[in-house]
Amino acid sequence: MSTFQFPEGFLWGAATAAHQVEGNNTHSDWWAWEQAGRVKEPSGLACDHHRRFAEDFDLAASLGHTTHRCSIEWSRIEPAEGQWNDEALAHYVDVVRALRERHLEPIITLHHFTTPQWLVAKGGWTNPHVVDAFARYVQRVVEALADQVRYWITINEPMVYVRMHYIQGLGPPGARDFKQAIQVIEHLLRAHAVSYRIVHEKRRADQPAPAVSIAQYIPVFRPCRRWWPPDRWVASLSDRLFTGAVLDALTEGRWSVPGVATWKIPEARKTLDFLGVNFYGRQFLRAILTLRNWPAESCDLGHHPCEVTERTSMGWDVHPDSFFQALVRLRATGLPILVTENGTYMRDDARRWSFIERHLQAMANAMQEGAPVIGYCYWSLLDNFEWAEGFGPRFGLIEVDYATQERRVRESARRYAEACRTNRIALSPS
Ligand code: GAL
Repeated sequence: MSTFQFPEGFLWGAATAAHQVEGNNTHSDWWAWEQAGRVKEPSGLACDHHRRFAEDFDLAASLGHTTHRCSIEWSRIEPAEGQWNDEALAHYVDVVRALRERHLEPIITLHHFTTPQWLVAKGGWTNPHVVDAFARYVQRVVEALADQVRYWITINEPMVYVRMHYIQGLGPPGARDFKQAIQVIEHLLRAHAVSYRIVHEKRRADQPAPAVSIAQYIPVFRPCRRWWPPDRWVASLSDRLFTGAVLDALTEGRWSVPGVATWKIPEARKTLDFLGVNFYGRQFLRAILTLRNWPAESCDLGHHPCEVTERTSMGWDVHPDSFFQALVRLRATGLPILVTENGTYMRDDARRWSFIERHLQAMANAMQEGAPVIGYCYWSLLDNFEWAEGFGPRFGLIEVDYATQERRVRESARRYAEACRTNRIALSPS
């Protein structure tokens, strides 16, 4: 059995997002959406991580992690337009300090699906002013944290955000409007570009250069019916929209999806210092006839008895080889790659470890093929609030008992800790 030795300094850890773990994010649009009964259950106290972050980081450090990805909640820092809550900002300074004290390299996300309610009342991400509003928020956060944070994720999964909130209507504002979706994409990319500049301008000469990226969801899109040309067309169009166009915008300053639109965003040119990659599995699409919406819908994986051989407990496709392919494909960007999310909900924890192990092996294989991966964050450190799905799906390395807020380290976390501590993975399962 051969083993793969990861490069020295490889970052090992897990990720979370503020709204999914902190609890009581009462000023965010998701909170209002939940109170309006639009989800299975509201986030409420979530994992009470806002108060328990230090003990959660103790657990991460005890599991051999060397990094942790988390997000800042904009609606806590600016609960009403122009009203800045210094205490809320000081909290995140404490969070980052707590990470540093435990030798966990902070990876800080500035926007992870939630937006302040006051902004949504003004049109949210469809309003061009959102870019300036976001810049003002980022300015404050970066001023407070720049000397302690090197890795920044500006926007988590811009395209998943757009799909979930503006095409599928599964998150606030619940829009199902392709025209709005296109506006939002443009504003997200501009918001990224302006944040990139802010982080770099605030760099102190005695600090290492900051590294800025988005967290880019990289699915492998497949047609539901391989024999049906419209499904194949929709799969390749989705790949262009989700991956190609976004990466072109942030490297060349030009966003283009044939038949949809082309724009120049010169300020977004060369605004990636590395590439944050989120990977979960393949996405199967079928073409649908629609006038206002994206001409595709995901199809039930049950339509693929041959292609889908394994599923998570949420029914998602498990396909580590596609992770390998995605990482190898991204070599072409010439950017260092940081896996900012990869994870699963499996009722049987042994299957969770098997998922992690095979994805680490796929990543190691991709690295042997020259993919410059610098770190891996499992999604997620804790069981947490899984958006529209509520608390049912449990992605955590650490189990959370929501009634008592007790934490219990899963066996998969211990197995993952071995990889983190030894910086190695066996290439074929024993
Ligand atoms: C990602 C998202 C996370 C988490 C995860 C699991 O797309 O960034 O917030 O929900 O999926 O579904």
